[in-house]
Amino acid sequence: MQDLDRDSVTAEALAQIARTPDPRLREIMMAATRHLHEFAREVNLKPDEWLAGIAFLTAVGQACTPFRQEFILLSDVLGLSRLVNVMHDAEGREAAGTETSLLGPFFREKAPEFAPGESIAVHDTQGTEVVIFGQVTDSTGQPVPGAEIDVWQTNAEGLYDLQARDATVMDMRGRFRADDQGRFHLRTVKPIGYSIPMDGPVGQMVHRQNRHGMRPAHIHVLVAAPGYRDLVTALYFGDDPNIGSDTVFGVSQSLVIQEAMGLPDSPRPDLPGIRYDFCLSRQGSGNDSGRVGADPSRLMPAAE
Ligand code: BEZ
Ligand code: FE
Repeated sequence: MQDLDRDSVTAEALAQIARTPDPRLREIMMAATRHLHEFAREVNLKPDEWLAGIAFLTAVGQACTPFRQEFILLSDVLGLSRLVNVMHDAEGREAAGTETSLLGPFFREKAPEFAPGESIAVHDTQGTEVVIFGQVTDSTGQPVPGAEIDVWQTNAEGLYDLQARDATVMDMRGRFRADDQGRFHLRTVKPIGYSIPMDGPVGQMVHRQNRHGMRPAHIHVLVAAPGYRDLVTALYFGDDPNIGSDTVFGVSQSLVIQEAMGLPDSPRPDLPGIRYDFCLSRQGSGNDSGRVGADPSRLMPAAE
C-alpha cells in the first residue's frame, strides 16, 4: 500500500475508475476526475472552500422542480451549454443548416396547437403585435412539408408563463404545422429582454460575479420533421441593448432579426413582420438527436 500524496492520489483514483465497463462512461469519468484534481491543485482548494462549493451544488439541486431546472441554468451561465451545442452542431449540422441556440429552462412539451396565422399571445396580449413567417427547407432548398414549429417566449413584461401565472396555464407558446410547401406563419407580441431567474443560487452567483444577468429579447423555436435532426434555436432582436452580452451566450449573428413593415410576401402586411427561413439538417445514423436540452419535468428523479 502506498501513501497517496497530491499527485499520486489522481493516478490511484483513475486506476479504480478505469474498471468502469461502459467505455464512454469510463472516458467521461476519467477525464472529469483528472480535470477536477487538476483544478483543485491549480487553485490550492481549501476545505472550507470545497464545502462552500458542495453547499452551492446542494442548493442548486434543491432549487430544481418539475418547472425549474437550476442545473441547466448553471450550465448556461458558465457557457457550458453553448460549448456542448457548438460541438454537437459541428458533428451533425449540415453546412447550410440553421444554427442552433439554447433550449433554455422554460421549454415545455405539448404546447397548444394553433392554426396558421393564429397568435400565441392568448392571455397576455399587451405589446406590439408582429407576424413571423417563412419556409422550412432542407439543406438543398427543398421544402419540408408538414414540419412542426414549436415557439415559446416571454410576454411583453419579460416573463414566461411559468413565471407569470400558475403552471397549469400555457401562454406565449404554441405549435404550428408548415404547409405542403414548408411555409408557416404565426402571430405573437414582441418580447422584451429579461433577466435569467436571479432568485436562486445561480442568480446569487451571477450577482457576485458582477454580471447583469440579462438575456436579449428572443423567441425560441424548435423545428421538427421525420428524417431530420430537431432544430433547437432562437431568434434574437437586434435592437436589444444586451444583444452583444447575453448572460448565457446564446446569440449568433445568423439568428439576429428585426421586425419591419413592408416585407415582400408578408401574409399580414398590416403588421410589423419578421421573415425567417429555417433549414433542417438530415438526421445522421444512430441516436443523432439535435435536441439539446429538456423539459424540466423530464429531469426529475423517478418517484419511489
Ligand atoms: C431562456 O432563454 O429562456 C433562458 C436560457 C438560459 C437561461 C435562462 C433562460
Ligand atoms: Fe428564453
